[in-house]
Amino acid sequence: MGSVLITGANRGIGYEFARSFADDGWHVHACCRNPDRAGALKEMMEGTVGAVTSHKLDVTNGLRVASLARALADEPIDILINNAGVYGPRTGFGETDYDEWLPVFSANVLAPMRMAERFVTHLEAGKRKLIVNISSRMGSMGENDGGGAYIYRSSKAALNAVVKSLSIDLAPRGIAAIAFHPGWVQTDMGGENAAIAPVESVKGMRAVIDGVSIADSGKFFNYDGAIVPW
Ligand SMILES: NC(=O)c1ccc[n+]([C@@H]2O[C@H](COP(=O)([O-])OP(=O)(O)OC[C@H]3O[C@@H](n4cnc5c(N)ncnc54)[C@H](OP(=O)(O)O)[C@@H]3O)[C@@H](O)[C@H]2O)c1
Repeated sequence: MGSVLITGANRGIGYEFARSFADDGWHVHACCRNPDRAGALKEMMEGTVGAVTSHKLDVTNGLRVASLARALADEPIDILINNAGVYGPRTGFGETDYDEWLPVFSANVLAPMRMAERFVTHLEAGKRKLIVNISSRMGSMGENDGGGAYIYRSSKAALNAVVKSLSIDLAPRGIAAIAFHPGWVQTDMGGENAAIAPVESVKGMRAVIDGVSIADSGKFFNYDGAIVPW
């Protein structure tokens, strides 16, 4: 089995990715802001088939990202999953909190790009050579029929632009980059009324991941494999 590095692996979709890959015997680099307080992750590390290593990582901290990349310099990484993300304030037109816009961009856009730049050599050394970015259909222009959510939507639209350029720039190095809408998922962000459980979302995305090749680089997938319009 290969190795996968996941950001925001302590809860929600990121945790389920970690659990699922570990169950299948992968080496999981589970990154989160507070490993000491990540109880579920600790439990998982004790009872899994594969090896799970936790790393303290706030993805908005460039120095921390660089030092983790250095610490793992000799480790090939097959798949990087840029999962960590924030929604930001749920405000409508006329209520925009401009001070909160940049922190959302920092986590949702700058961080995935930084992870790609810092871990590109690890990915080159891996077999799968894949960067998975957890975006959202909220970032799709074509699917925006509800308006609002200016901060979150614009951050995921910007992430999609990053993914598209990564797919072009990293093609010569054999590395693919894709974006996912994970579905409306029952997590702290998605809420308890969301349509699907993290298990279903991750099961779907893993099936897509298993099938993607460099020819699919730059695509925006729904968790069930359907294409989401930009
Ligand atoms: N749930 C949905 O319906 C849905 C739909 C579309 C897209 N998404 C996307 O799916 C991804 C995962 O979301 P989720 O639903 O699992 O949300 P969640 O339950 O709120 O989990 C968010 C994760 O991101 C981590 N995180 C946030 N900022 C971070 C930072 N600066 N550094 C490191 N980790 C950070 C959180 O860590 P802490 O515990 O330290 O806060 C947590 O592990 C996000 O990118 C989200 O935008 C979710």
